[in-house]
Amino acid sequence: MHFCDYYDNLFSLEKQVFIIREHKLKKEVITVNIAILGFGTVGSGVYKIIKKANRQTQNLHVKHILIRKNKKPDFPEMTDSIDEILNDDDVDVVVEVLGGIEPAHQYIVEALKHKKHVITANKAVIAQYMDEFTKVSRENGVKFYFESSVGGGIPWIQGLERALRIDDVNKIKGIFNGTSNFILDQMHRTGEPFNDVLMQAQQLGYAEADPSADIDGLDVANKLCISVDIAYDLFIKPTADLPIFGIRNITEDDMAHFDQLGMTIKLMGVSHQVGNEFDYMVEPTLYYGDTLEAHTTDNYNLISLHGETIGVLKFMGQGAGQLPTANAVIQDILDIFQNKEHLKREFKSTFKYSANLTKHSYIVRSEIDCSTLFKKFNPSVRGDYLVVTDIPVGEMHRLMKQVLQKDETAFMASLPMKKGGAAK
Ligand code: HSE
Repeated sequence: MHFCDYYDNLFSLEKQVFIIREHKLKKEVITVNIAILGFGTVGSGVYKIIKKANRQTQNLHVKHILIRKNKKPDFPEMTDSIDEILNDDDVDVVVEVLGGIEPAHQYIVEALKHKKHVITANKAVIAQYMDEFTKVSRENGVKFYFESSVGGGIPWIQGLERALRIDDVNKIKGIFNGTSNFILDQMHRTGEPFNDVLMQAQQLGYAEADPSADIDGLDVANKLCISVDIAYDLFIKPTADLPIFGIRNITEDDMAHFDQLGMTIKLMGVSHQVGNEFDYMVEPTLYYGDTLEAHTTDNYNLISLHGETIGVLKFMGQGAGQLPTANAVIQDILDIFQNKEHLKREFKSTFKYSANLTKHSYIVRSEIDCSTLFKKFNPSVRGDYLVVTDIPVGEMHRLMKQVLQKDETAFMASLPMKKGGAAK
């Protein structure tokens, strides 16, 4: 063998050993140990997808599943000790899918402090504590990701963050709740009463354990807060003072009436930003049949943003349900281990919340005569309904709270702009 060939071969051998060693090292590093807190709809969905070991999920390993105290474990991974999980140095990621505020809040903070990445689908706890989770994760050099919390399986947060790399986003609008969309769509198509279709949504795993959050607009409120936090880089908590009106009171007769008018009703969450101000609203909204919103059926969500250069972007997909939501949880895990950074939040914006930035027209149904209450806004009676014109949104919600005190069955919906007017 020529002298130079000898060295070439030696070098190539060393290189191969190095590559194998690197590969082994990498192999060790990419086995990701996961602890799932909670084994309800989403938790068991995460487990199912990981067990299937498809494509890039092959190196994900569920090491622990936290179950309720004294509950009989069905799988060897199950434990009722949060400390066992927090003190296990092998656990890389904690997936919080308990739902609710406590102990979810406490467990998330503790997991971050134990230097574990945290992923959660729990919109209620994020909306309340986004600022604290952001700070603690940064202090501990770990990630806090929550794609699945808004829009279920839709890559909405990723899309919003991507738009924000270039644009200011000055409008967010969406069908953010799968359960209420399923209910409204079923009522519209079958004429079935509200309570029957709510039960179907619960059986399909769309509704929360306590479905009042879905039907009273609070789930949309949480998701809109999270979206607004990211879009405007500020922190706003969902409180009772915000304009939030749900679909609890809608009847089959309301549905039939809207149908006759050629309109479809959707529960919307909307925010606009103008100058130094932004608004925020959750309300039932009527759409003409030729809009994408009117065609968003079943448990689907449709969420859109407006950015300066990108214009309008719409994201559609299953906003509720076991596997779509679990899919988004796992996408976050993969992002962490493929070093895909999400947007940094500073919460430094000086935008102020303004309840009355936008005016809408509304249709109101109540057993009491509300004409006097709405007299400044051209009320006109249309059969069993009252139409109120060009009223600031905050004012409308304030007056509607007064109506509800006297008639707890009252209902309102925002009307679409006249055809040819600006899209809503
Ligand atoms: N209950 C929620 C919904 C689940 O119906 O949208 C997904 O966040």
